[in-house]
Amino acid sequence: MTKSRCVVAGSGHYLPARVLTNDELSRTIDTSDAWIRQRTGIAERRIAAEGETTSDMAVIAAERALAAAGLKATDIDIVVVATSTPDNTFPAAAVSVQAKLGITAGAAYDLQAVCSGFVFALANTDAMLKAGQGQRALVIGSETFSRILDWTDRSTCVLFGDGAGAVVMECLDAGDNPQDRGILSAHLRSDGRYRDKLYVDGGPSSTGTVGHLRMEGREVFKHAVARIEDVIEAAFDATGMTADDLDWFVPHQANIRIIDATAKRFGIPDHKVIKTVDKQGNTSAASIPMALSEAAADGRIKQGQVLLLEAMGGGFTWGSVIMRW
Ligand code: UT7
Repeated sequence: MTKSRCVVAGSGHYLPARVLTNDELSRTIDTSDAWIRQRTGIAERRIAAEGETTSDMAVIAAERALAAAGLKATDIDIVVVATSTPDNTFPAAAVSVQAKLGITAGAAYDLQAVCSGFVFALANTDAMLKAGQGQRALVIGSETFSRILDWTDRSTCVLFGDGAGAVVMECLDAGDNPQDRGILSAHLRSDGRYRDKLYVDGGPSSTGTVGHLRMEGREVFKHAVARIEDVIEAAFDATGMTADDLDWFVPHQANIRIIDATAKRFGIPDHKVIKTVDKQGNTSAASIPMALSEAAADGRIKQGQVLLLEAMGGGFTWGSVIMRW
């Protein structure tokens, strides 16, 4: 029986030009470069320019992913943008991306699972393509968290940054895929009982305002470590793989302590872990596709290699994907 798999045909990312350092933050709030680095691993983050929107950044990342794949925008059947910071309440950022890229066929929609958004979008797109909804998709994570931060709250505003990453997914039949590339496992989880641990205190049907991000950091940290472990174990059980089979671990970039603890728990050596949190902070749904794009562009991630992705975020939502690049 021919088995289709959805493979990454290309990736791209975009970071806004403006760099905001810890030292700059320490001039406006009661914090320090030493505290932020030690507790989070973050040294700096990027901030979108005035007027620069989530869809603007997504379009640049998408164009770069299309160029890397050697494809045209009109080759794309589905555009999915994973974001919690869309340009407008509606329509979806994805339809703006679609229009800006000149795509008029197929479907475009946003997917909102906060920091787990890209993992959810990858699994969703894989299923959509396998179900025959098209041949190729743009899966994008793009966020402007700088717009929903309370810049007087030192416990949250130092953590996040802006940016966008994109991959082109293409469905291949077994005969065209001798390396068995593609998504090998996807495990998605949510537990809404914890929705007030990390949330935005506004919205169209509650306050009628956009609101600001609020988080019980220590509580989220504790859950993140346990829940990430749960979905990585599920991924290993489903594929029969172990940490030894991985070429790269590409975690969501929330906190270097969470990344290092997870890698240590599973015996993944540091040289196999892709880390961007120092220069980008937590960019929510954009962090994994940006890390993938950066590491593919500089030659670390190569075709045929096995990658483990994981994320955990507001909701709570969490998930993992094992894929052969
Ligand atoms: O991507 C979605 C998932 N998000 C996460 O995974 C984030 C998870 N949480 C974390 O990464 C960490 O909990 C934080 C980095 C947010 C905080 O680190 P922590 O080690 O858990 O610190 P804490 O919240 O327990 O705070 C320790 C102290 C407190 O002071 P007291 O009460 O001990 O006097 C805070 O007020 O650090 C203080 N503090 C700060 N000090 C300087 C909090 N923020 C800052 C700051 N600068 N920016």
